[in-house]
Parts: sequence; C-alpha cells; structure tokens
Amino acid sequence: MTISVNRKSGSAEKPARREGEIKPPRNRSKALVTKSTRNGREVAVKDFTRCSAVLKRLYGRPTLRREVRAYGLLQGIEGIPQCFGLEGPDSMVIEYVHGRLLGDFKRGNIESHVFDRVDGIVAAAHARGVAFGDLHESNIIITGSGDVFLIDFANAVFTGTPHRPGLFARFFMNLDRHAAARMRARYLRLPRPVPAGVFGFLYRFGRGLKAARGRIKKVLHAGR
Ligand SMILES: Nc1ncnc2c1ncn2[C@@H]1O[C@H](COP(=O)(O)OP(=O)(O)OP(=O)(O)O)[C@@H](O)[C@H]1O
Ligand SMILES: [Mg+2]
Repeated sequence: MTISVNRKSGSAEKPARREGEIKPPRNRSKALVTKSTRNGREVAVKDFTRCSAVLKRLYGRPTLRREVRAYGLLQGIEGIPQCFGLEGPDSMVIEYVHGRLLGDFKRGNIESHVFDRVDGIVAAAHARGVAFGDLHESNIIITGSGDVFLIDFANAVFTGTPHRPGLFARFFMNLDRHAAARMRARYLRLPRPVPAGVFGFLYRFGRGLKAARGRIKKVLHAGR
C-alpha cells in the first residue's frame, strides 16, 4: 500500500504536547488521549480528568461507560482493539494500535480493500447490535501491514435485537453504512453516494440543521 501522508501545514504555533499525548483534544469537551503502558503493554488512555466537573459528569463519564459497553459487545471482532475497561471514573484504557489515521492519507493513495474491511467491521458490529454513530476518518486506523481498526464508540447506539433493530438503531446503522460509502467514494474518486428513502430525507434534514447551526455560529462570532 502507498503511504503518502497529507500534512496540513498551519502557521499558528501549536501548544506543547503533554507526555505521551497522541493528539491534542479539539476542544474543551474532548478527552485527552495519551499513549502509555500497562503491565508491559502499549495502551491508549482516553481521559476526561482535565475537563470541568460538570462536563465530566454530564458528558465524560456517560461517554466512557458507553464506549466500554460497546467494546465489551464487540470483543473478539478483528479490527476492534481490545478494551481494558475503566481506570477510575474518568478514564478508559484500550489496546494501542500502531498505524495512521485514514484522514492522514491523500485521496487516491488508499486501496479498495481498506474500505472492504471497514464495511466488514461495521457489518460485524451491527450483527452484535452496535452502531458506531460517528464513523469518520479520524476513527479509522490503518496499520503498516494494511490491517484496519475502528476506534471511538463515544456515540455508539445499541440494540438488543440486531436482526430486527428498531427505527432509532436502524437509522444509525444506515448512517454508518452511508459514512463508509462516502469515505470509499472520496478516497477512490468514485461518484458520491446519494442516500435514499426515509433515511435520505432524515439525513439531508440533519445536514441542513448542522449547516444552519454553523452559519448562526459564524454570524454570532463575527458580531463579537
Ligand atoms: N487505541 C488507539 N490506538 C492508537 N491511537 C488511538 C487509539 N485511540 C485513540 N487514538 C488516537 O486518539 C485520537 C482521538 O481518539 P478518539 O477518537 O477516541 O477521541 P475523540 O475525543 O472522540 O476524538 P475525535 O472527536 O477527534 O474523534 C484518534 O483520532 C487517534 O489518533
Ligand atoms: Mg474520534
């Protein structure tokens, strides 16, 4: 596989990283993820300790519990890292996966088998009643040997009846499949998939709301 990294160069000076820090959190509601070792194994520690008490209670802790539950249900699926559970109420420990994020690759430099693997892992997770809800380029790791791992179950949605999911879980499963198809189309330079039916309607509605929220934010920001 061609490994060509797309580094976006920013002129702004970046804040110094903490020891082992993998990626600085994008905002104050994001966990700090660091690389560390536990019992001689390399692990990634996702940690909300530095967040405010309110954020920890209302977002961090429920999010970590959801992730641990998802990893538990998905245990043993190839392409899902092993989870070692919670370490205190505000941090979680998972197997560290060596590789690059899908988002670090340039379009045209990824082979289709990567997306076949993403589809396969998504299908295996759905069969166990877990929808990712947040499948994107920063949540997919490709190892040097071309293996594919999916991480980040902060937005996972569960169903106790995977063979017959309810409307809510079905929507998120469709969302996962659509996200995977969009990434495939983007990286392999294929036509963009068009979501159809009720899912397509809800999807476009949701995107419209998101775009409107972005515009409002911009206007408010410009008015400051
Ligand atoms: N198990 C892991 N092995 C290697 N790197 C990891 C692992 N878990 C997380 N990371 C790195 O940390 C980053 C953030 O992790 P994660 O996606 O779980 O957190 P997040 O707060 O949801 O971030 P984002 O909103 O950017 O997706 C990932 O994009 C990846 O670079
Ligand atoms: Mg993520």
